Amino acid sequence: MVKLSKKKKIKKKRKGKKVSIIGTGHVGLVTGACLAELGNRVICVDNNEEKIASLNRGEIPIYEPGLEELVKRNIRAGRLSFTTNIKEGVNNSEIIFIAVNTPPKPDGEADLCFIEAVSREVAQTMKGYKIIVEKSTVPVETGKWISRTVKLNNKKSINFDIVSNPEFLREGSAVYDTMHPDRIVLGVGSKKAERIMRELYQPLDAPIIVTDIESAEIIKHASNSFLAMKISYINSIANICEKAGADIKKVAEGIPCDKRIGRDFLNAGVGFGGACLPKDLQAFVGITQRLGYDFELLKVVEKINRQQRELLVSKVRDVVWNIKDKTIGILGLAFKPNTDDMRNAPSIEIIQMLQKEEAKIKAYDPVAIPVARGILKEVTYCKDSYDTANGCDALVILTEWEEFKRLDLKKIKRLMKAPIIVDGRNIFEPEKMKRLGFIYKSIGRST
Ligand code: UGA
Repeated sequence: MVKLSKKKKIKKKRKGKKVSIIGTGHVGLVTGACLAELGNRVICVDNNEEKIASLNRGEIPIYEPGLEELVKRNIRAGRLSFTTNIKEGVNNSEIIFIAVNTPPKPDGEADLCFIEAVSREVAQTMKGYKIIVEKSTVPVETGKWISRTVKLNNKKSINFDIVSNPEFLREGSAVYDTMHPDRIVLGVGSKKAERIMRELYQPLDAPIIVTDIESAEIIKHASNSFLAMKISYINSIANICEKAGADIKKVAEGIPCDKRIGRDFLNAGVGFGGACLPKDLQAFVGITQRLGYDFELLKVVEKINRQQRELLVSKVRDVVWNIKDKTIGILGLAFKPNTDDMRNAPSIEIIQMLQKEEAKIKAYDPVAIPVARGILKEVTYCKDSYDTANGCDALVILTEWEEFKRLDLKKIKRLMKAPIIVDGRNIFEPEKMKRLGFIYKSIGRST
């Protein structure tokens, strides 16, 4: 259960705001539930009737620790409701968050047609002053476009403000991240909007950074690109460590003692995936290109990330020789632990590369198998890690789920055809694996 500190509980007694959230995806739903928990009256709007019906019953369509109880508690308390009727949301709130998805177009640019449609509907519906908040990750200058669209469609010239309030939550710890943010970024165009948004977030007691709207929009893309860059950087260092006989885990402990660098996002592996980092990186490269800047550094970040997937497959080849007809067991399918999200998961590309070389694939993930079934075909999905290891020529670890770290490795070894583990997330110690009699390959550690 995600608990509020005593201080936050006291502050909860303040008069809540009336808020609506349009779009009940990961960001919209978590934001809505958390704002309700802080004492605001929140209406979540989505045009998917089935989704809204199940949310009203307290059923959560995504796997996100702590979210279900938060939603149920706030529905019971009368602070959170769900509707398909955008008018109901707009007319009963002062602050309207746009949290609809912005899927990538074939060229990587974000498709903003849902944002435009919502802006138009809000403008046609609103009867009094509203703050319209960009919550979805959008390219810089989207705020200007929303403002223009609202002005064009709001015939009575009702006053409104646009705020850019980018989200920094991570899947798998989204509720915690929202309740304990490192910072809240508010890109505002008026003092009134700044005051109301500060009041909304006051119970969180987090640092608030106030900027113009364009700067706030760039902060989001620049932050995610920086995180992606850190991962590709450490993966490059890992490759050097391997060649030089060094150990990336020790190197990654030594660099971040310098607090200007920090320890997070220095875990080498098969590269980043998910719905955000790869998409935002690609979109940011496109945005900067349009603005007249060739962001070569970020292009290389993307390239290194692709190469990490290929590197993993070449490591499998190094230990099994011919991949053709070998049975390869995959442990971990989700793009990271504590989620069933498979979007841009490294497992997809890696399994497809192995299948191209005619490997037989067995796979297990604690929660992502139902989602994986829709994406990866001709895979034997297994009930657990031991079932996966049974009869395998090699085991490949692609997600660092806690349960994999606690495996009975002696049992795994007995079940496998050959004792080979290729660890794409560095969850085991090479020395220990050697003692147990495994041929063990990991990332950035010489074996
Ligand atoms: C990311 C950002 O971390 C959030 O701050 C941001 O709000 C979010 O995108 C978003 O834009 O909505 P998320 O996609 O949930 O969050 O996942 P991360 O925890 O950032 O992990 C991304 C990928 O990087 C995963 O595949 C993970 O395995 C990989 N990773 C992470 C590494 O390979 N090494 C690391 O050291 C850390």
